[in-house]
Amino acid sequence: VIDVAALYKQAGVFTLDPGFTSTASCESQITFIDGDEGILLHRGYPIDQLADQSGYLEVCYLLLNGKLPNQTEFKTFAREITQHTMLHTQMDRFFDGFRRDSHPMAMLTGNVGALSAFYPSSMDSADPEERRLASIRLIAKMPTLAARIYKYSIGQPFVNPRNELSYAENFLRMCFSVPAEDYKISPTLSKAMDRFFILHADHEQNASTSTVRLAGSSGAHPYAAVAAGVACLWGPSHGGANEACLNMLREIGSVDRIPEFIARAKDKSDPFRLMGFGHRVYKNYDPRAKVMQQTAHEVLDELGVRDTPILKVAMELEKIALNDEYFIEKKLYPNVDFYSGIILDAMGFPTEMFTVLFALARTVGWVSQLNEMLDDPTQRIGRPRQIYTGEAMRDFVPVSQRS
Ligand code: ACO
Repeated sequence: VIDVAALYKQAGVFTLDPGFTSTASCESQITFIDGDEGILLHRGYPIDQLADQSGYLEVCYLLLNGKLPNQTEFKTFAREITQHTMLHTQMDRFFDGFRRDSHPMAMLTGNVGALSAFYPSSMDSADPEERRLASIRLIAKMPTLAARIYKYSIGQPFVNPRNELSYAENFLRMCFSVPAEDYKISPTLSKAMDRFFILHADHEQNASTSTVRLAGSSGAHPYAAVAAGVACLWGPSHGGANEACLNMLREIGSVDRIPEFIARAKDKSDPFRLMGFGHRVYKNYDPRAKVMQQTAHEVLDELGVRDTPILKVAMELEKIALNDEYFIEKKLYPNVDFYSGIILDAMGFPTEMFTVLFALARTVGWVSQLNEMLDDPTQRIGRPRQIYTGEAMRDFVPVSQRS
């Protein structure tokens, strides 16, 4: 009989770290987070400076290339992105296979994976030019794909991209133009959309980015690796939190019911958690949440929707939770999803679309991290080990002899 425990002893030392709370899976030069101080840097630049002074496409260039572009580099990059915004016409037929009421994230996972069928040459992940092109295509096509998913789900005709508009303006127009009326661009809403994209662009080795790295480590097609990231992002503990948060605010419904939900969040026998609060890494105010909070106020003022029941609940919940002993002791601050849900709801996006918008914005982070990993000559396939806790070796018994 083989002694499994003895085998482990022979194999050497394994680290068991469920949830990877203290295990680095890679080295990276893209994003730095200090969760205790509430600091987030992309390639060294603080997130609040990027959100205030830069634009999403410039941040995309920065994440992909490691430096801010000069004017010529930016022009060339932006032009290349706009050259790739269209989807293959056969993708339209692909949409018809989905039920109209499919969750938008289900459609996004399928569609991003399907892109690999249209660009087979990108499979050569060893070729940096193929990978660069795949990155450009993904960043360019995501808004078109996301807007089409939205239009399909509400039964409206697709709106094609317009290249003279900015990335955020073009996306809002593709979502909200209707045949009778072209979307009227609002600088405040476009800026808010752009900020949302910047704030969600990358966040080092979170679950979906680690998924993209692991999937891509086998040499898988980059579109397929990104589709794996989209699938991972869907969960309510990750990107699905902004959707879950809005649903929770609706369920609370009115300010007088907040204490009941705060009590439930503290009750350890109740699985309920206050959605939009807490973060694995930030044990201080998430710097992105600060920018989102300010942006939420700008959007609400622009749209004149400050007094909706959801917003009243959100603002009161924030106040109560920030002063509550349980939340202070456990360092549970409102996270970026708490405010982004409020903004997207006010802009008119249905809650099921929230995670799709997160995925759109995070695509640049996923491809930057994938490229960084594949550019490393020491890169190997990711292959975690485990601590086996099952049965020791035993003999098979035919079914006729089992009691
Ligand atoms: N409401 C109530 N209690 C909470 C919450 C919450 N939102 N978050 C954590 N806690 C409590 C836990 O019950 C636990 O208490 P205990 O020490 O008494 O057992 C303690 O705080 C630590 O929680 P963990 O689950 O160990 O923290 P972890 O780092 O694993 O989880 C997470 C982080 C998943 C984000 C968690 O805070 C959560 O579920 N939040 C709500 C969902 C959410 O908003 N997710 C968005 C994350 S941000 C993003 O993806 C962009």
